[in-house]
Amino acid sequence: MKMVKVILNEGKVIHVYGSALIEVLKGSISIYGKRVKAYEKILLYKYRSYPLVALEESVINLVLPEESYIKEAKDQAIYEWMSTAEEIIKGTHTAIVVVGGVDSGKSSFITLLSNKLIERGFKIAIIDSDIGQADIGPPGFISLGTPEKQIIWLRELKPLSMRFIGDIRPQYYVDKIIREVLNLKNLALHELKTSIVLINTDGWISDPQAIVYKYKFIEAVEPTALVVLGADLKGLFKHFEKMGMKVFELPSPLHAKQRDRDERRKLRSERYASFLKEAPLRKYKLSEVMIDGFQLLQGVDVNSTVYSETGVNVVYASINADTLNIVVQQSISEVEVDKVKKVLGVSKARIYYLGFEKGLYVALTDDKDIDHPGLVDEIDFLNKVIAIYTYFDGRPKVIKFSKIKLSRDYFDQLVE
Ligand SMILES: Nc1ncnc2c1ncn2[C@@H]1O[C@H](COP(=O)(O)OP(=O)(O)OP(=O)(O)O)[C@@H](O)[C@H]1O
Ligand SMILES: [Mg+2]
Repeated sequence: MKMVKVILNEGKVIHVYGSALIEVLKGSISIYGKRVKAYEKILLYKYRSYPLVALEESVINLVLPEESYIKEAKDQAIYEWMSTAEEIIKGTHTAIVVVGGVDSGKSSFITLLSNKLIERGFKIAIIDSDIGQADIGPPGFISLGTPEKQIIWLRELKPLSMRFIGDIRPQYYVDKIIREVLNLKNLALHELKTSIVLINTDGWISDPQAIVYKYKFIEAVEPTALVVLGADLKGLFKHFEKMGMKVFELPSPLHAKQRDRDERRKLRSERYASFLKEAPLRKYKLSEVMIDGFQLLQGVDVNSTVYSETGVNVVYASINADTLNIVVQQSISEVEVDKVKKVLGVSKARIYYLGFEKGLYVALTDDKDIDHPGLVDEIDFLNKVIAIYTYFDGRPKVIKFSKIKLSRDYFDQLVE
């Protein structure tokens, strides 16, 4: 542990990298627009960096673990961010979309804007459509939060509504993401009666397809203002001024803490865990719940036919269009598979080994169409019961499967 005391003149900034305990001894500072006053303490999270801006002459005390450090900043980004945030607040905006690449500062700018709006007494909502680095809901979900107090990280918010996409790669779910964002925007503006909704997007911007997607997204969502982060996107979204939108181009922070692939996976794993860890195991009858996104359980059950007509013994079998899906205990010979295919008149076969289902990430849909995260423990094919770890305690209308499988410590892996 290190202890550092810093004196900052009004308007001066220092950057803190990694976790730290900050105590303001005199004056007041702003962290992404959250005001921290004299005698207040605040804990900064790991994996992030923070500009501390002195709102007046201030003395602060920092307690830092060995791996954290502070740096004096020449970076002007935070000042530009703050004045743009003020400008946005003065306008009469109802929806603001923030776009930018990975680590460009999207979540932080939304945090800043949210804090400033709350300070002025606005009732706001935030929609997080970044399914890969989800901050409000768990990964693979689009979620909505309604902050009531100032925060320094979007992860402090509890999701009020969540919609399942079931993947962390936006490129395959463009229309679905847009549809769900629109649903949540309507919920915020018309049902929750918030006056402004802030919409975070994913960091996929590196190829023309990504830009086409972002255009489609913005055209459908119709924000009144668009915030574009990073020099790499300069000019690209100015065209939206033709639609009457205000377009604000802002720099990314120079001193951002870059997160590598492993850190991002770790951040995701913490995110899954905070929604699933220690969740009770609940059982659902497959005959009573709709299944979405999983061909094995969506086909016609042909289990008994397989045995009676071919003598081949499998744990479970179903037919889905031209494909036979079979679950086997250990293995099955190619000859046997061909025999079953022939007798049942299908051209393809897909084999699952018993236990494959453990760790599949799913969502359970309630009667208000809110999706809740769950983790499959097992499917009992004999009694047709599925066991899922979930905090959702109602009766699901639908169980939606994803392309994600989680390990015991909640690290994700994509499955086909
Ligand atoms: N003005 C700033 N000064 C210093 N660090 C900053 C600033 N803004 C953001 N950061 C840091 O930069 C990193 C990236 O910011 P942020 O998470 O907001 O970006 P993002 O675009 O949402 O990234 P992701 O693609 O992971 O969702 C974080 O560590 C954040 O704490
Ligand atoms: Mg983010």
